[in-house]
Amino acid sequence: MNIILILIMSGALATNIDKDSGMIIDKNWQLVKTNCTGCHAAPHFTSQKNDRENWIEIIRWMQKKQGLWQLDAEVENNILDYLTVNYGLVDSNTVQKIDKITGMIIDDNWELVKVNCISCHSAKIIIQQGVDRDTWKEIIVWMQEEQGLWQLDINIENKILDYLAKNYSRKNK
Ligand code: HEC
Ligand code: HEC
Repeated sequence: MNIILILIMSGALATNIDKDSGMIIDKNWQLVKTNCTGCHAAPHFTSQKNDRENWIEIIRWMQKKQGLWQLDAEVENNILDYLTVNYGLVDSNTVQKIDKITGMIIDDNWELVKVNCISCHSAKIIIQQGVDRDTWKEIIVWMQEEQGLWQLDINIENKILDYLAKNYSRKNK
């Protein structure tokens, strides 16, 4: 085992969890606890992993539809820092890469999704969704029946679903 791996692992073991909320204790965590656990418990967000842009979207949606108050810009930035560092698409060993042009996560099969899924609409419509594999399948069938999406070879469809379910599912739906 090399030294870097040992460092990463001991770093992971040293993560402190607040017993009360289940949140990772890290810079700004109390700010997040204050602003984000009044209406629902922390697992609403600690069970998720999103990139910063997605966290912003969730916050906007909560402000527009769910009664979350406006946040001071600096407070919001600190909250986003905490969420992105601790509940972002980056774990100890792999740094998730984002394609600059489409904004999509670069992972197994992503090129297949790029070829098949973003000629009619931008990738944004995909990135914004956070549904499970079955619902992804339903969306594809709906697009085939109603929106002119072509039939996909079953192997290709499975690979596309693997990618979508892995990278664009929010667990709490
Ligand atoms: C004023 C009340 C309120 C506050 C404060 C609040 N939320 Fe929410 N949030 C809601 C409601 C209502 C829902 C939707 C109902 C549900 O899922 O229980 C929700 C849902 C969510 C979801 C699930 C979204 C999804 O993927 O479907 C996440 C994640 C979330 N909140 C994170 C946060 C974060 C982070 C903060 C702090 C910035 C926060 N919430 C503060 C009311 C609030
Ligand atoms: C032939 C054109 C076409 C292709 C190719 C296509 N879509 Fe779509 N898709 C549409 C249209 C049209 C809509 C509805 C447009 C809108 O709501 O703005 C849509 C909507 C969506 C939505 C939003 C559904 C909702 O409930 O709001 C998602 C997610 C989506 N597409 C994902 C995909 C994925 C994943 C693929 C690849 C498997 C794909 N699309 C390929 C035409 C297409």
